[in-house]
Amino acid sequence: TAGPTYEAIDPVRGITNISSGKMGYALAAACAAAGAEVVLVSGPTRLTCPAGVTRVDVASARQMQTAVEEALPGADVFIGVAAVADYRPAEVAADKIKKTGNDELVLRLVPNPDILAGVAARADRPLCVGFAAESRNLAEYATKKLHGKKLDMVVGNLVQDGMGGDHNTVVIFDHAGQHPLPRAAKERVAQGIVNHVVRLLNQSSNA
Ligand code: CTP
Repeated sequence: TAGPTYEAIDPVRGITNISSGKMGYALAAACAAAGAEVVLVSGPTRLTCPAGVTRVDVASARQMQTAVEEALPGADVFIGVAAVADYRPAEVAADKIKKTGNDELVLRLVPNPDILAGVAARADRPLCVGFAAESRNLAEYATKKLHGKKLDMVVGNLVQDGMGGDHNTVVIFDHAGQHPLPRAAKERVAQGIVNHVVRLLNQSSNA
């Protein structure tokens, strides 16, 4: 998965975030270059689909979950890079919401499904890779995601180092420990992540 999600409030407004999709698209391209058959489930971005990758366009987290479930059978690896909205409006207004003078407008939000945790909880789960974009305490929060969502690997970065830009500084967290990658263009970082995924796949097939 890649990019942001978009949760409609009414026909012309919605909740989204500043994810550009660049890291997820770079990873899809790196996986394809490594010989994988790749389905890229993408939220709204301005990016073009990498060569050799099948893109499925979605907007909301629930659409993203459905598209992931359709693409999953037979997959060896699931990599969740999308910045999925944790909450969506409880109701989507059928008509454009009109302002009501100076009164407060209260939006009620309900939790979205966790797509990655859902994939990792399946009996026939593929190798599961998550991303953790944090503004502080990276190691603590990334390790919490690794164990909490029962993942094989988490790619952690500080939002101020990567979100929206062309470069990223990441640390890979897996059950053997922490593996920092050098700061580089997202394409280069993606290759490093794919190399680590391949090492874990080889370990699990040798086990
Ligand atoms: N993810 C997902 N579905 C969600 C939320 C997140 O698949 N509904 C995936 C993301 O693609 C990413 C990882 O989970 O791989 C991020 O974890 P998450 O706990 O959502 O991060 P934050 O939203 O930053 O959560 P927190 O508020 O706990 O830091």
